[in-house]
Amino acid sequence: MSETQLSTPKTDHGQQPTLKLTPAIDDHLARTLKQKPLRYKGSFDSYNHFEISPYIGTEFPKGSISLRDLLKAPNSDELLKDLAVLIAERGVILFRDQDLTPDEHSLLVKKLSTLPLGQKPEDALLHIHPMTHSNPEFGDHFVKIYSKLNEVYKGDKRGITQRTTGLFHSDLNYERRPALLSALRMTVVPEDGAGGTVFGSGYHAYSRLTPTFARFLENLTAHSDWTTNLKLFDSKTGDHYREVRGAENVGAQVVSDHPVVRTNPITGWKSLYYSVIHNRYINELDYDESLAVMQFIERSLTENHEYLIKIRWQKNDIAIWDNRSTFHSATMDYDGQSSYREGFRVTTLGEIPYLDPASISIKEYEEALKNQAR
Ligand SMILES: [Fe+2]
Repeated sequence: MSETQLSTPKTDHGQQPTLKLTPAIDDHLARTLKQKPLRYKGSFDSYNHFEISPYIGTEFPKGSISLRDLLKAPNSDELLKDLAVLIAERGVILFRDQDLTPDEHSLLVKKLSTLPLGQKPEDALLHIHPMTHSNPEFGDHFVKIYSKLNEVYKGDKRGITQRTTGLFHSDLNYERRPALLSALRMTVVPEDGAGGTVFGSGYHAYSRLTPTFARFLENLTAHSDWTTNLKLFDSKTGDHYREVRGAENVGAQVVSDHPVVRTNPITGWKSLYYSVIHNRYINELDYDESLAVMQFIERSLTENHEYLIKIRWQKNDIAIWDNRSTFHSATMDYDGQSSYREGFRVTTLGEIPYLDPASISIKEYEEALKNQAR
């Protein structure tokens, strides 16, 4: 984590976003635009940890940090704010062996989502998933992730693709106000290592683009539509949830239009923001152009494995990821019978996605750091 401890190069982060805002959208967005990017201060450097790869992911092994103790620490808010920044910088953090209660799990995510903006945990917007809205075990905002959920779609031509790279996504991309942080605690894992989760860095996917192509993508928005999938779910299991799923996300409509390149307000870095499983077309292009661009983006996200990592889950591991600048996919090498897996996810909602023209790529940030050090 050494590079994250250096001082912040000057970047102006106060300009208006390129996308129009609607009234009352967004205390969250207004706050993000007011603040300068935050940098990780190194609060957890003394704990045993390692970077899963240079580009994405940090792991705190078993016996390292205790998230329960962290919540109880006298300077808990200060530490959790720095942890939120670390999550935004590294994309995903894996904490091994964290037997959190549902209340602790929920409070942790709420604090990590609100502290960087100077809000209180109760200001966090929790999402209620349209497919797993009733969860008597833990509460309605806990999403039960389990093997059998995937069987709803199996072999159905209207369902999701059987091509694994077609499953990459950012959580809730189909919502008008999509996901900020997701925190998944795995409670049952297959013994043979099946059911891992692959994560990718949107920062580095963006950084790889030539400036000319990056500028082109910065003018595009992608249309997401989850309607067909929810209809399929309804036909097999009963109606999905149409009440308020959090903030503006309400009713039967599960479509959205979001920028293909967005700014992460915590870091001030640009990221490719694209969800292979949810995105249907590019609004500003015709059919053939849209198809070509989407294929390029998908290949860019999924075929450059230097910015992909795979987490092999163990019981009570919790991973927390920033959906604004990462994408992920389950690995479908488990079948729900002999290799069952189960976990519980809490997801908060962030700002309406925007691109701040003054934001920079992670590569530009690192170059600026090097120049500063000379
Ligand atoms: Fe997901």
